[in-house]
Amino acid sequence: MEQMRAAGFPEGFLWGSASAAYQIEGGWKEGGKGMTNWDAFVRIPGKTYKATTGDVAVDHYHRYKEDIALMAEMGLNTYRFSVSWARIFPEGTGEVNEEGIAFYQDIIDECLKYNIEPMVTIYHWDLPQALVDEYQGWESPRIIDDYVHYAKTLFSRFDGKVKYWITLNEQNIFTSLGWLTAQHPPGKFDDQKMFYQVNHHAFMAHAKAVLAYRQMGGKGQIGASFAYTPSYALDCKPINAMAKANYDDLKNYWWMDVYAYGRYPVAAMTYLKKKGIAPDMADGDKEILRQAASQITFMGVNYYQSCVCEYNPMDGATPYGTMNTTGVKGSAQELGMPGIYKNPANPYLMTTDWDWSIDPSGLQFCCREITSRYALPIVISENGLGAFDKKTEDDQIHDEYRICYLKEHIKALGEAVEEGCQVLAYCTWSFTDLLSWLNGYQKRYGFVYVDREEEEGGTLNRFKKDSFYWYKKVIETNGKEI
Ligand code: BG6
Repeated sequence: MEQMRAAGFPEGFLWGSASAAYQIEGGWKEGGKGMTNWDAFVRIPGKTYKATTGDVAVDHYHRYKEDIALMAEMGLNTYRFSVSWARIFPEGTGEVNEEGIAFYQDIIDECLKYNIEPMVTIYHWDLPQALVDEYQGWESPRIIDDYVHYAKTLFSRFDGKVKYWITLNEQNIFTSLGWLTAQHPPGKFDDQKMFYQVNHHAFMAHAKAVLAYRQMGGKGQIGASFAYTPSYALDCKPINAMAKANYDDLKNYWWMDVYAYGRYPVAAMTYLKKKGIAPDMADGDKEILRQAASQITFMGVNYYQSCVCEYNPMDGATPYGTMNTTGVKGSAQELGMPGIYKNPANPYLMTTDWDWSIDPSGLQFCCREITSRYALPIVISENGLGAFDKKTEDDQIHDEYRICYLKEHIKALGEAVEEGCQVLAYCTWSFTDLLSWLNGYQKRYGFVYVDREEEEGGTLNRFKKDSFYWYKKVIETNGKEI
């Protein structure tokens, strides 16, 4: 394979991989864990691809030692994983479930044994169902105190061992899919007012947890992970350039400005107020957001693709077009906000089988934008290729397309580093194959193949893909040999 020289990554750069509890653990009724919103949602007919669930997932709950040993064999410097809130507080709040604490304590110790830095995501979408039953979860401001109590429990129990904390994973995605497109729990459709309200609650939960961490003496790194889809204007027509500006305010800066500056973008807020869908805020919220913004130490970025922005007439594309969850190329519809922007396909980019554009430069663009706009260090908390992988009869998985995808993205990241962006870590999505929320098990992302399909019953055995050996070399050479 051709060897390329990437730009120099700094000493101590963290090469990692990421996962989320619901997508890998399984053991959905074990260890005293309570029910979650996802445990309930996947049981609603038609919600997930071929009705797949995370009941067993890839059985990381029982195989975490084997998985972490594989990470060590690969030389991973960091492992990003999430804690399932319902394992710690089965009812969302109240009594701590010691078995849940012990499970994550073991994972952390196992990582540390191999010098793998644990990077903990506090919330990656699985919410205790008890909080939904009690007060509709994120819809109520009551969630803020419960989230902070949960976060503080993790801070104190894993004190000294965990130095990287991610408060929320992709707040923009779980709220959009939960309250606009009905594809995630709680399955609400087009509830725009509640969408912004839920987001405000999530911002406050994040902010208060960040402040609590510092008040408790936490000296580690803390921030949120944002699903950043950078944009290009279709052309130099002013109306399309303005569509891009509007898209950026409404789809990117709405979240990143709050994390980094503690304030909402002015034009977007003005627009929401005119439409009567701006969030209600309590006295003092603005000050708390501002204080927390001064305490985060990085912007977490989950990067998969870029998009194109073009003016969208009032009768144009909506946010509710069909999403490709089957892997049948070309089945996704164009999305947009009527009267504001739409996202046509980029004719200069190739796409995955799930119609996601493949754009390594977009990753460099994200880093440049965050560096100039926020002057913050960056953690790439996710980046990867979902693909159909085939295991040969002699148990090989030749995923050269994944190697090619990651190689080009690491090159682009190296260029961002050369240009002065302070990047702390690069985590691929994912280490083992896992459940893709809406796309089942056939959309594989891992370096390690897991023997299972949509239906239960595979051996769940692990097999190293070609990309496993390739990434091992990348880590060994600190990104010099890619
Ligand atoms: C991110 C999430 O949105 O992208 C992950 O943080 C998710 O949980 C990943 O799995 C890939 O998305 P998908 O839909 O292909 O699984």
